[in-house]
Amino acid sequence: MKLLLVGATGLVGRHVLALALADARVSGVVAPARRALPAHAKLDAPLVDFDQLPQEAPWWRADAVICTLGTTMKVAGTRQVFRRIDHDYPLDVARLALAAGTPAYVLNSAAGANPSSRIFYNRVKGELERDLAALGFASLTHVRPGLIGGERDAARAGEGAALRVLRVLGPVLPARWRINPAPRIAAALLESAIRAVPGVHVVTSAQLA
Ligand SMILES: NC(=O)c1ccc[n+]([C@@H]2O[C@H](COP(=O)([O-])OP(=O)(O)OC[C@H]3O[C@@H](n4cnc5c(N)ncnc54)[C@H](OP(=O)(O)O)[C@@H]3O)[C@@H](O)[C@H]2O)c1
Repeated sequence: MKLLLVGATGLVGRHVLALALADARVSGVVAPARRALPAHAKLDAPLVDFDQLPQEAPWWRADAVICTLGTTMKVAGTRQVFRRIDHDYPLDVARLALAAGTPAYVLNSAAGANPSSRIFYNRVKGELERDLAALGFASLTHVRPGLIGGERDAARAGEGAALRVLRVLGPVLPARWRINPAPRIAAALLESAIRAVPGVHVVTSAQLA
């Protein structure tokens, strides 16, 4: 199968990319990104600006999209910029891929995603899930991690403290509160994309613990 991956330079996306490139079921990966990725025989990584995505690129046609693209409020600076990156970019990618005939979309969403949430982050994730479902992919999966565990280029103070506490308490916590390791999330994303089971599906943080 041919995979279209956005967010390939991030923590989860890097793991998805490595798994996909090593998987014999995946014949090729297209990973549009704003930064260059290391070359690989199975990889096409066009440099793009997500504010001006190329509408006619042939690589929008794939067997499935995996989206691990997103930012933080700290990096975004304003709610408006956060929403553009975490909601509009993944939705723009979905529209272009669907229009080109790509039948499946797998989103790295978040636990608590809910369009009616009073928490802005959860509301944006929920609105994205809702708006993706309205597009009509044959197969749509929302993978909803809790706190993601893994090595980051840039440390995140708040997340670091939460991760330390959860690591200590992990064994006694209910599965849904445990850290979700990035490789585990990546494997769930890739399997969902390859299987592309018809309908709308949710993978919960408890299933990723
Ligand atoms: N952190 C958590 O504990 C947690 C929990 C639940 C869900 N999530 C969600 O899971 C998803 C993946 O998380 P992660 O930790 O893997 O994220 P990450 O390491 O920060 O990676 C984010 C990816 O999005 C890309 N991106 C961000 N801003 C962009 C922009 N303006 N234009 C183009 N690309 C942009 C990054 O590209 P560059 O490398 O070029 O910046 C990178 O590829 C996110 O949507 C996040 O909200 C996170």
